Amino acid sequence: MQAVQQADIVPVTRAGLDAWLARAPASQARWVRQHGFQALPGRHIVVPGMGGDQGIGVVLVATSSFGLFTLGDLPAALPAGIVYSLEGRFDRERATALSLGWALGNYRFERYREARPRPHLVWPDGTDIARVEAIAESVRLGRDLINTPAEDMGPGELAEAVAALGRDHDARVRIVAGDELLAAGYPAIHAVGRASSRAPRLIDLAWGDPEAPQVALVGKGVCFDSGGLDLKPAAAMQPMKKDMAGAASAIALAAMVMRLGLPVRLRLLVPAVDNAVAGNAYRPLDVIPTRQGTAIEIGNTDAEGRVILADALAEASSDRPDLLLDLATLTGAARAALGPELPALFSNDDTLANEIEAAGRQVEDELWRLPLWPGYRRLLESDTAPLSTTGREGTAGAILAALFLERFVGEGIAWAHIDLMGWNTHARPGRPKGGEVMAARCLLAMLERRYGRARAGTGQG
Ligand code: BES
Ligand code: MN
Ligand code: ZN
Repeated sequence: MQAVQQADIVPVTRAGLDAWLARAPASQARWVRQHGFQALPGRHIVVPGMGGDQGIGVVLVATSSFGLFTLGDLPAALPAGIVYSLEGRFDRERATALSLGWALGNYRFERYREARPRPHLVWPDGTDIARVEAIAESVRLGRDLINTPAEDMGPGELAEAVAALGRDHDARVRIVAGDELLAAGYPAIHAVGRASSRAPRLIDLAWGDPEAPQVALVGKGVCFDSGGLDLKPAAAMQPMKKDMAGAASAIALAAMVMRLGLPVRLRLLVPAVDNAVAGNAYRPLDVIPTRQGTAIEIGNTDAEGRVILADALAEASSDRPDLLLDLATLTGAARAALGPELPALFSNDDTLANEIEAAGRQVEDELWRLPLWPGYRRLLESDTAPLSTTGREGTAGAILAALFLERFVGEGIAWAHIDLMGWNTHARPGRPKGGEVMAARCLLAMLERRYGRARAGTGQG
């Protein structure tokens, strides 16, 4: 039997690199110097082993923080078939963060191609392995849902994904589909989704201790956004398989909460539709009823996310949850304002908003607050109905969308809305190019601060 090849990963600061060079075998130090390796965070260098062995001896990785994303590039960059160990001793929090960064980087979407062998890291001493696996597996699930093309990820498949998650965690899952949506009182979800041969759905998962405070999550599940009759041009339509990334991020967060056993009562609501073109499609300036009662005038059929979220937010509000959080790929305007990497946060509750922002910084899953400015409410007035989905103004699109949603949130409920991209336009450490779960780790950290962790002494991710 051939011995398993092993190699050390050595995270180094600038000073740490100098110290390593001083104590390393001369040939390895020469290799590193000859390659001009500098300890600039994000860089790494593979150093050959000693003696006759031609394999990898050491991987130096530069860092200033020993934080979450320190190892995030390595799984994609290092050869597989080698067992890597991390040099150094780390406290529980750091060990867990370093391991999680590796795990988040160790992802590739392989549904339609051969699985590539992946490098293996021995979790460093102190790692909260259960936590790393709970978070990484949840993110993997969410990324897979987003990356799967719309053909294989319609409202039915999204519902089945939630049902499967529910079975794993003894959750109750209710699915209202097609014309049942009308009978059950979700007319807005039905109006948006009725033009597709794949029936629209409201997916509803409930989990946890009925005595615990309720957290309601709502995720925009537009499985493909063609724009509807206000059809998107090709370049804008092309990425729209990801228009269920809010749902995927909410599902990933729900998975984390259930896997880690947070002391909350969870409700996850995903309105799942295709925004399609057909003779029975909803039209510009149609006025459609909503669950809450407010009739809405459709300003543009491409502003479909807020329409389906209206019914889901009204449903979530009927439970009077302690917190109501929605995640959605809602507007191009939020991307124009903040770019692809930074989700926009809106909230009617400053304490909640501050908690979310602080949690985002703490776990390196940042987002940025934009105002829910009441001064713009008048822009959503319609000549025909109590409320327009878009209004007439062409500016402040992300704020207008948030102000529209606010109308469907029950009075006095602490609510946060997150307008996110759901896609990495280029790879960053721990964040491979493609579908991305956004804001879930941030919200998990916020929930853990608010409600506590189920198990004592778990490290932070
Ligand atoms: N899903 C899009 C928003 C989007 C586009 C998110 C690109 C991320 C990247 C949404 O349904 C949409 O089409 N919004 C319109 C609204 C407009 C018609 C008022 C937009 O942002 O242009
Ligand atoms: Mn749209
Ligand atoms: Zn959309």
